[in-house]
Amino acid sequence: MTDNWNIDVSQRIRRLPPYLFGELNRLKYQKRRAGVDIIDLGMGNPSDAPTTEIIDKLCEAAHDPRNHGYSASAGVFNLRREVSRLYKRLYGVSLAPEEEVIACLGSKEGFSHMCLALMGPGDTAVVGDPYFPIHVYGVALAGANVINVPLGNDEAFLGRIAYVVEHLFPKPKLLILNYPHNPTAMTVDGVGFFEEVVRLAKKHGFMVIHDFAYGRTCFDGYEAPSFLQAEGAKDVGVEFVTMSKPYNMAGWRIGFAAGNAEMIRSLATIKGYYDYGIFTPIQIASIIAMRHCEKGVSEQAQAYRSRRDVVVDGLRRIGWEVEPPRASMFVWARVREEHLGSEGTIPFANRLLDEAEVAIAPGRAFGEQGEGYVRIALVENEQRLRQAIRQIDRALNKGIKAPSATKLKRKRQRPAE
Ligand SMILES: Cc1ncc(COP(=O)(O)O)c(C=O)c1O
Repeated sequence: MTDNWNIDVSQRIRRLPPYLFGELNRLKYQKRRAGVDIIDLGMGNPSDAPTTEIIDKLCEAAHDPRNHGYSASAGVFNLRREVSRLYKRLYGVSLAPEEEVIACLGSKEGFSHMCLALMGPGDTAVVGDPYFPIHVYGVALAGANVINVPLGNDEAFLGRIAYVVEHLFPKPKLLILNYPHNPTAMTVDGVGFFEEVVRLAKKHGFMVIHDFAYGRTCFDGYEAPSFLQAEGAKDVGVEFVTMSKPYNMAGWRIGFAAGNAEMIRSLATIKGYYDYGIFTPIQIASIIAMRHCEKGVSEQAQAYRSRRDVVVDGLRRIGWEVEPPRASMFVWARVREEHLGSEGTIPFANRLLDEAEVAIAPGRAFGEQGEGYVRIALVENEQRLRQAIRQIDRALNKGIKAPSATKLKRKRQRPAE
C-alpha cells in the first residue's frame, strides 16, 4: 500500500457522475472467479467476428514493414474517401474526404474529443434521457453542463428541446442525438425529423452531434435515415459512425465523424495533439470492409433480428410486456412491477446476476428516465439467449436458484461500457 498523501485528482474527475455499473461489474467479476458461467447480456460488445476478408487484409497489411509507423491522426486519405463513397452510396450524401470526414479511435473517442473541442465551462449540451453514458460523461469531462430532457422521436420531443433552448441562459450550445438509440432502440421514421432538428438548430444557433452507431443494424425492412441527409445538416452538425457494430470490429477501435467542416477541423486539432492515428493495417482493412463486405453487414443485422425474436418471444412467454425493436442490438424491456418492487433496477440487476447468473444492464444506469427498465444486449447466440430466459424465469417466477455453477472453459472478461 502506498500513502496517497499528495494525490489530488482534478475537478474534471471529481465532477463525474457516480459510476452505476460498479456493483454489477464487481459481482460479475467475483462470480467468474468462482467459475460461474455468467450469460453476459450486459454490454453491447459484439461477440461475432469480422468477415474473413477483413481479417485477411489486416494480416496482409501487417506483414508490410511500411505500415508500422505512426499514421495520420485524422486517418489516411483513401480511408476518408471510402467513407465519403459509402455515404454517397447509402444515403446520397456528398462529403469532401479531407474537410468533412475524420477517422477516430472508435466513435466513443471521437465523440469525447469533439466535446472537448466544442465545449467548456459555462457551456451546456442538451441530451435526451435515457442516454448512452458517454453522451453525458463526454460533456462533463469537457467541463460543460448537461441538461436532460425526456427522450422522444417526435414533435413533442422537439418541443421540449425548443423550450429548453428558449428558456435557458446562456443558451445551450449543443444537441446530442442518437437514433437508432442505445439503450432504448428508439428510431425515427424518416429524414423529416432531422430536418426539423436542423431548422431548430439554425433558429436558435446550436450545434448538433448525431451518434449513428446503429445506423446499419436495422431489420424488418426499416432503414435508418442519416442526419446528414437532412437539408442543411452540414451547416449545423456532424454524425458519428463506427466500424464496431456493422463489421464486428469493436476491439479494433475505428470510427468516423462526418459533416460540418469547422467541427471536423476542431476535432482534428484536438486529435493532432493527443494521438498519432489508428494502426495503418486497421485503416487498410477498414477500406476493404466498406468496399467489399456489405453482405456481412446485412447478415449481422439479420443475426440480431433472430436473437431479438428469441428474447422478445421468451420474455413475453414469461409474462413481460415488451415491444420488438426494429434496429440496434438491444431489447429494452419494462420490468414487471411484482419483480421490481421498490428496489429499483440497479439492485434488481444485481439480484438477477446473483440468482439467475445472467447479466443485464439496469435502466437506471442510463438516466432517471431509464428506471423501471432493463437493457438486454443480443450478444450471445440463440441457444444461450433461450437459456438466459429460462434462468431468469426460474429465478424470478419460481424462486428457484439458477443452475449450479458450471466451470468456465475460457474466461472472457468484458470491459465496462
Ligand atoms: C450509441 C453508441 N455510440 C457509440 C458507441 C461506441 O462505439 P465505438 O466502438 O465506435 O467507440 C456505442 C457502443 O456501444 C454506442 O452504443
